[in-house]
Amino acid sequence: MKNVLVIYYSQSGQLKEIAQNIAKPLLENEEVNLTFHEIKLVKPFPFPWNKEAFFDAFPESFLQIPTELEPVPQEILGQRYDLILFHYQVWYLSPSIPINSFLKSDQAKILLKDTPVVTISGSRNMWVMAQEKIKKLLQENGAKLVGNVALVDRVGNLISVITIVEWMFSGVKKKHLGIFPLPGVSQKDIDESDQFGKIILSKLQSNQWDGLQPELVAHGAVRISSYLVKVDKTANKIFNKWSNLIHKKRNSRKIWLKVFYVYLFLAIWLISPIVYILHVFTYPLKINSIKRETQYLQGV
Ligand SMILES: Cc1cc2nc3c(=O)[nH]c(=O)nc-3n(C[C@H](O)[C@H](O)[C@H](O)COP(=O)(O)O)c2cc1C
Repeated sequence: MKNVLVIYYSQSGQLKEIAQNIAKPLLENEEVNLTFHEIKLVKPFPFPWNKEAFFDAFPESFLQIPTELEPVPQEILGQRYDLILFHYQVWYLSPSIPINSFLKSDQAKILLKDTPVVTISGSRNMWVMAQEKIKKLLQENGAKLVGNVALVDRVGNLISVITIVEWMFSGVKKKHLGIFPLPGVSQKDIDESDQFGKIILSKLQSNQWDGLQPELVAHGAVRISSYLVKVDKTANKIFNKWSNLIHKKRNSRKIWLKVFYVYLFLAIWLISPIVYILHVFTYPLKINSIKRETQYLQGV
């Protein structure tokens, strides 16, 4: 019998549906004992979000400052697991506050130590640097990262900014104004994510984790856009300055968050198209380093 723990947090239910689909092949196997654990906050974030709360989450998301969680039930904590499927979303280029809080908790240390982990993210499209932060936290917990699946919204970057913000502020996955595509990970990708569960199950049965990631990648589990990687890296440097500044401004935090909002708006709509054009023109010169980087980011 193999013990598998599925850990997730989800506001809209998107990541919960992904977690259930990936787990389906394991659930159907008689030799797998599957347990779900939903990360819960003592003080939950609102969903749908309002504008103030949405931007207020920025400094602590980016600076990876944990908040208080409901404890993991004793019956889950008392078990050893052969595998943990760890589902997370990205907030401001970092693991979301609930996910970060979990990974920094003492209970996570107990669960993750010496345990193989497959990370599964459901984000807009900018997850690569958040995954680097997740890797570090897993390492600090003594976990063994054996696989990664990154599910994203595959429409164009600027379109998904509009549709995801609309979704986060309304709480409903719908076609904005009747003309925009649906927000989030496509239903097709969510429905077909059980294919990753099948691959994970075969490796779990043989206890051979080495070949897992190349097989997941061959089935489209991790697609890398060198342009989005460039934006992610650059924005991380800039967010670092903004988050430290706003976090320190206790009395004028609200005003600074408004200034940050204006900056972010301009960065998305003015700076990112310029970065895109520069990226297209310099791409042929950087092709080899981009290939190396893509290979690294598709690995674990
Ligand atoms: C405050 C906030 C910030 C977000 N920042 C990012 C981001 O930096 N990169 C990204 O790809 N997605 C980002 N997203 C989208 C989330 O990763 C995720 O796709 C969405 O919140 C749905 O997840 P759910 O399963 O919790 O509903 C953000 C969402 C929220 C609410």
